[in-house]
Amino acid sequence: MKEFSITNLSSKTQRSVTTRLIHLFLALLIVIQLALSLVMTAPSGAQAGDQWFELHEKFGLAALAALLIFWVWSLLRNKEVKAVELFPYFSAARMAAVYADFKDVTKHALQLNMPDKSEQPFANAVHGLGIIIASVMAASGASGYFLKIGFMLGVHEVVSKLMWAYLIGHVFAAILHQLRGDAILSRMFFIKK
Ligand code: HEM
Ligand code: HEM
Repeated sequence: MKEFSITNLSSKTQRSVTTRLIHLFLALLIVIQLALSLVMTAPSGAQAGDQWFELHEKFGLAALAALLIFWVWSLLRNKEVKAVELFPYFSAARMAAVYADFKDVTKHALQLNMPDKSEQPFANAVHGLGIIIASVMAASGASGYFLKIGFMLGVHEVVSKLMWAYLIGHVFAAILHQLRGDAILSRMFFIKK
């Protein structure tokens, strides 16, 4: 049986143009959706939503499409982080590697620095969580609004808090890496250094 350890679990964090393009659209769409939610008036009873809500509906469907594309792409792609690394829940060995990496990252964070390594099972698992949260947002919005499943809009509202938390934490971590000299933001967003 193949042995798993932190060092052989994760593939390189090299990301293809396709991954970076999908990520770019997804990040833009989700930031737009969260911003629109701050200004829009959603439909209530007989009253229709305003023009900002109409945009929320359209960009929301675009986000749903981008997420479906990401899910399919994460299953198909080679030489990048694999779907099982983004969603490690079905393997005890992978979960153990995520936990060990989490302890390592925490230890370094308490010393106000970051581990220098290409393997990052914990970060991969957090990215997977971001995709799950965004997918629940898009699916609950669409099913609550178009299929009129009222309960789903309740899910949409509750999970929106997690979406904000993910976005803030994710961007904060990316900026910290960039400031520390690990140019992940530039690489992810096609910025030449
Ligand atoms: C990833 C995509 C999406 C994100 C990030 C998102 C985000 C949000 C946020 C943050 C809110 C405000 C929640 C609150 O505090 O009350 C909201 C409300 C809402 N969204 Fe979305 N949304 C997305 C997709 C959609 C889609 C596809 C639809 C379908 C048309 C939709 C319909 C709604 C509706 C109807 C509300 C008002 C809910 C209420 O006030 O009861 N959303 N959305
Ligand atoms: C809420 C919307 C977002 C979601 C759901 C999301 C999701 C993800 C995912 C899944 C990955 C890993 C990609 C892969 O391995 O295939 C990733 C990486 C990354 N994201 Fe985002 N992202 C979002 C928004 C953003 C924004 C707004 C920024 C920039 C300010 C950003 C910066 C990055 C960077 C720099 C990486 C590379 C991290 C690394 O190499 O360790 N993301 N994101």
